[in-house]
Amino acid sequence: MLQYLKKYRLYCLLAPLFMLGEIAMDMWQPAMMAIIVDKGVLGGNIDLIWEMGIWMLLLVIFGGTCGILCGVFASIAAQNFGNDVRKDLFSRIMNFSFQQTDQFTTGSLITRITNDVSRVEQMVMMSVRSVVRCTVMFFGGIYMLYLQSPRFALVAACGLPVIAAFVIFFLRKVSPLFTIIQQKLDQINCIVQENIAGARVVKAYVKEAQALALFSKANDQLCIVNLRAQTALAFLNPCVNIVLNICTVVVLYIGGITIQTDGNITPGQVMASITYLSMILMRIIFMANIFQTFTRSSASWKRIREVLETKPAQKSGTYVSEKGHQGEIEFRNVSFSYPDAPDNPVLKNVSFQIEPGQTVAVIGSTGSGKSSLVHLIPRFYDTTGGEVLVDGINVRDYPMEVLRDKIGIVQQKSELFSRSIEENITWGTPNADPEEIRRAARLAQAEDFIQNTPNGYQTHVTESGHSLSGGQKQRISIARAMLKRPEILILDDAASALDLKTEAALQASFNRELEGTTKLIVAQRVASVKNADKILVLDDGQLSARGTHEELLKTSPVYGEICRSQIKQEVNAS
Ligand SMILES: Nc1ncnc2c1ncn2[C@@H]1O[C@H](COP(=O)(O)OP(=O)(O)OP(=O)(O)O)[C@@H](O)[C@H]1O
Ligand SMILES: [Mg+2]
Repeated sequence: MLQYLKKYRLYCLLAPLFMLGEIAMDMWQPAMMAIIVDKGVLGGNIDLIWEMGIWMLLLVIFGGTCGILCGVFASIAAQNFGNDVRKDLFSRIMNFSFQQTDQFTTGSLITRITNDVSRVEQMVMMSVRSVVRCTVMFFGGIYMLYLQSPRFALVAACGLPVIAAFVIFFLRKVSPLFTIIQQKLDQINCIVQENIAGARVVKAYVKEAQALALFSKANDQLCIVNLRAQTALAFLNPCVNIVLNICTVVVLYIGGITIQTDGNITPGQVMASITYLSMILMRIIFMANIFQTFTRSSASWKRIREVLETKPAQKSGTYVSEKGHQGEIEFRNVSFSYPDAPDNPVLKNVSFQIEPGQTVAVIGSTGSGKSSLVHLIPRFYDTTGGEVLVDGINVRDYPMEVLRDKIGIVQQKSELFSRSIEENITWGTPNADPEEIRRAARLAQAEDFIQNTPNGYQTHVTESGHSLSGGQKQRISIARAMLKRPEILILDDAASALDLKTEAALQASFNRELEGTTKLIVAQRVASVKNADKILVLDDGQLSARGTHEELLKTSPVYGEICRSQIKQEVNAS
């Protein structure tokens, strides 16, 4: 944490310094009041009352100014600290592999970057303001009380351990509850995130009541834990007040007797002593508050550190390619299993080679491993056995951005952002000129529908592309990949929402315009793959056959079965 605060050390130093000015005002005021009461009110010296009044006013102005400056400097340190931590967290999360994001869960990552950082910001603010204020006022109050009368200091010394005991008792009850509160908040964030992102599914299945019940349960649990913590804390103030009042009565009693007997003490001093006494004893509560905030914030800082200290699961390579445009892909005996199911291989000993410029299709039943296979090329995941090579080099040896720059991938689920259609297309190629953008849209068979939208390329796409049809989203995603002019274009079931005519037009434009680009096309429909140079048939993670459509019809029972089942479906449908 110090590493983040180092940059703002000047503000971290200035804030407590100005706080000392504010404290001086608080410390001197009771003593000045004592003089006004003793010499001004009881001694009948009106001039002194005026004089001291003006001094007190000046002191308030000085103390107030110091307080404002302290607040400003503390805020600068805390806010900038939070700003830096949030940026680092976000950048770290952006570098996480899919596996790491899955492990943390999206909800928890959101809580960490928002709620947890705010808590730690609060701790920084408190450290440079309240800790100094509390400590100086506590010890300064004892000293000032001692100056009024050592006997009164003794009363404070008796009250202190009792209050400290109360504070420790309640804090021990409450501290574990704060960790639970944070976990409950994580849960709520997960539920909110899932149900808002998946609102359409929730509505389609009329699951609003179930979603609400799930949310209410988590929310009620949070409410109960919060209530338990707050109820325990509610007892603290009255307990401290009782001790404080007993001490005040004792001071008044001793003060009264002393005034009447030896006159060693004045009524003004008794009054000031009571103010100092409450100043000292109340500090214990403030210290408890600080301790509480520190306990909660250190739990938050631990959660932030977990993210900051998580090393990227994938190391970027250093290989610098000297050759020009190519696009060869080779799988050498590749096996792969997801990290959460290491004993359940999704790909088993898969080997194949794709020459630059070839169009190769991957077909297979659902769950056979097609998406998993293509995800290994841009290193969304790393192989657990064997090697994936691009242009003869293991993908692990490329710097990540060099590798991903070679590849344009359109994922099975189109991901669009809430910005204009043009900005969505230029997402990976920000400096593309308008003619290039139009060409990519034309190639992706998207231009006609874009021109029919109210503002053409400037039409705003709502969050996650909800304002567009499935096929429109897919075509914008394809245009986005095309604009990159990648060496390798991967379409993972990316034309599934297109009608056969549009898909045929898309394939024709690929053949016409992307001659040198290697195209790897995952598809479910035989019609989408039959013109490919080579078809790979995946069956339960194994490459069961390869060849052209005609070859496979003769040699692959799995491919034959896929063809027959689709013809049957078409016959049944017609
Ligand atoms: N992130 C993940 N974590 C764990 N297992 C996964 C993950 N993604 C996919 N799987 C599993 O891997 C297997 C292959 O999934 P994959 O998505 O590659 O299939 P697919 O052939 O693309 O299917 P579809 O045609 O339905 O898209 C499935 O059994 C699936 O449950
Ligand atoms: Mg898939």
